[in-house]
Amino acid sequence: MSSPVLNIGIVGLGRLGQRHARNLAQRVPNARVVAACSPLQTELDWAAATLGITSTYADYDAMLAHPGLDAVFLVTPTSLHAQQIIAALRAGKHVFCEKPLSLDLADCLAVEAEAARHPQLTAMIGFVRRFDASYHDAQQKIARGMIGKPYLVRSQTCDQNDPSGAFMRFAPTSGGIFLDCSVHDIDLARWLLGNPVPKRVYASGTNAIHKGLQAFGDVDNGLATVEFSDGSMATFLASRTLAHGHETLTEVFGTEGRLAVGNNPRLNRVEISDVHGVRNECTPDFYARFADAFLVEAQEFVDAALGQGQLTLRLNDATEATRLGLAMTQAMREARIVEF
Ligand code: NAI
Repeated sequence: MSSPVLNIGIVGLGRLGQRHARNLAQRVPNARVVAACSPLQTELDWAAATLGITSTYADYDAMLAHPGLDAVFLVTPTSLHAQQIIAALRAGKHVFCEKPLSLDLADCLAVEAEAARHPQLTAMIGFVRRFDASYHDAQQKIARGMIGKPYLVRSQTCDQNDPSGAFMRFAPTSGGIFLDCSVHDIDLARWLLGNPVPKRVYASGTNAIHKGLQAFGDVDNGLATVEFSDGSMATFLASRTLAHGHETLTEVFGTEGRLAVGNNPRLNRVEISDVHGVRNECTPDFYARFADAFLVEAQEFVDAALGQGQLTLRLNDATEATRLGLAMTQAMREARIVEF
C-alpha cells in the first residue's frame, strides 16, 4: 500500500511563495503540489517551467474546485488571508497561511469560528520561528525550568537597509512595522513566557532613512513594550535600516538565568581575520536565517493534515499576536499608552 500524500494548491508565487512551492514540491516527501494560483501569468509560467505544475489558475475559487485537491498553501498579501482561509475551509480543504492571520481582529475571530465548524480540517498560520532548531531548543530549556521563571523577553527583527526602498510597495497593505515584522517576536514572546495575558502597551518609532513611510503612518524603526497581567514583560525592536544584514535576536531573562538566540547573526562558522579585524559575515535576509525552519514548518502542516501528527500552535495564537500588534501600532500612532 502506498503512503498517503497531501495534494496541495499553492496560492501566491511571489518573494516567499516560490520558496514554499519549491519546498513542498521537492523537499516534503508526503506533499504533492498539484495546482498553482496567481493573478500574474509570469508567476504561473514559473511554476510550470520550474516545478512542472501544469494545472494553473488565475482565479482562487476555480483552484479550490481542482479535482482531488486536499489543501491550500496561502502565500498571498496579508489583506487577503482571512477571506481566503474561510473560502478554503468552506470548500473542505486543509489550509496553511502565512503570517499575520489578519490586520483586523474581527476577521481573526471569524477565521477561528469557521475553523471550529470544520474540526476535521487542519488550519495553521506560519509562525516560522517556532520551527527553528535554536528557538525550539530554547523553548524546551525554559519549559524544563533551566532559567527558573521567565519574566522578560527582549526580541528584535531587524532587516538590512534596502536603499532602493522596494519594501515600500508593501507599506500600504502591510499594517505597519509591528504587524509585519514584530508579529514574529510577539508570537515568540507569548510562547516563551507561557501565553501571558497583555495588560498595557507603550510604543514609539522613528523614520531614520525611509521618510516616505510617514505617509502610511509607518516607521522604519519601531520600539514597543508590553506589560502582562502576571507581571512578565516583553520589549520589541523592529528595524528596516541595519547596515550589516538581517539580525533576529531574542533574549529571555529568567529568575535563574538568561537564554539568547541569535546573539551573533553570523552567516556561518567562518571567521575572517584581516586588516579590518576579526569578524563573521552576517545573514543577509530572513530567508537565509530561517530556510531550514520553513521546511520543518511545511512538514508539520502536511503531517497534521494527513492525520500523522499534531499542530504545535493554534489559530488563537495568531489572533493574539494580531491583537498585540494592533495595540502596539495604536500606541505608537496615538503617542499614548494602550490598556487592554
Ligand atoms: P509578494 O507580493 O512577493 O507575493 C504575493 C503573491 O500573492 C504574488 O505572487 C501575487 O501575485 C499573489 N497574489 C496577489 N493577489 C492574489 C490573489 N487574489 N490570489 C492569488 N494570489 C494573489 O509578497 P511576499 O513577500 O511573498 O509575502 C506574502 C505573505 O507572506 C505576506 O502575508 C507576508 O506577511 C508573508 N511573509 C512571511 C514571512 C515570514 O518570515 N514568515 C516573510 C515574508 C513574507
